[in-house]
Amino acid sequence: MKVVTTIDELQQELEKYRTAKKKIALVPTMGYLHDGHLTLAKTARKDNDIVVMSDFVNPTQFGPNEDYESYPRDLKHDEKIATEAGVDYLFVPSVEEMYPTDGGIRFEAGPASKILCGASRPIHFNGVLQVVSKLFHIVQPTHAYFGQKDAQQLALIKMMVRDFNFPLTICSVPIVREEDGLAKSSRNVFLTAEERKQAPTIQKALQQAQKEFLQSHDKDKAIQIAKTMIESETSGKIDYLELRSYPDLQEIHPETRHFLLATAVYFSNVRLIDNILF
Ligand code: PAJ
Repeated sequence: MKVVTTIDELQQELEKYRTAKKKIALVPTMGYLHDGHLTLAKTARKDNDIVVMSDFVNPTQFGPNEDYESYPRDLKHDEKIATEAGVDYLFVPSVEEMYPTDGGIRFEAGPASKILCGASRPIHFNGVLQVVSKLFHIVQPTHAYFGQKDAQQLALIKMMVRDFNFPLTICSVPIVREEDGLAKSSRNVFLTAEERKQAPTIQKALQQAQKEFLQSHDKDKAIQIAKTMIESETSGKIDYLELRSYPDLQEIHPETRHFLLATAVYFSNVRLIDNILF
């Protein structure tokens, strides 16, 4: 595996594969790699000739009071994991390399970016779409891989690809979990021992809500069951817990067939997200 830090070098490396019409996969990450990222990379490895993983904590998707500075970083660890997963190029640009100028051009993600996670992180998805579109232009992948853990992000990226005619296929992988059900996340390391013990309740609560909704079709009741469970069994503070249609993220109606049951819960300053797609 080759670690590349500049856009020029990466594009020079990839040119020959592009000319030879090879399948080039991009796996965008913010590093501090865990089994969720590893699964994305392994899936990409299986179905493509070349796998590029980006490892970049993107400042533009963090709000002023969020955890950009404290976001965990460990390049040596990432290099090891990415090598194991069969990644060919690990792209680790600096902030200056990705954003040499402020540019003045902004991405404005549509209304689906202002709900769920976007309600409390108003600029988050603008920054995500900005960096992902830059990575698509830099790497020009034939396939790009994203996790269902960030279901809203996945839906918005698919919308961007559709609306801006990016010539690539978006592939997704299911949520990878710890043995006790907690969704793997780079932020889990910041939980205290007690919070870590409580955190799997998030997934259990979503499961209860899903069960209730499938039986009664009573959305409000289903949501209340999950909220009560999280509030009574953990010290977590619920940011949102909602049932929406997927992938369009609208209010549900009798014809809705694909659902996203999603939540974000704060444990102290650690914001955990989880969801069920059904
Ligand atoms: P990051 O949080 O590092 O996640 C990178 C990719 O890994 C995302 O597609 C995410 O959905 C996926 N992922 C994370 N945890 C997962 C899990 N437990 N199971 C399955 N997939 C998981 O998401 C981002 O970075 C950034 O917003 C990014 C897209 C890289 C843009 O900066």
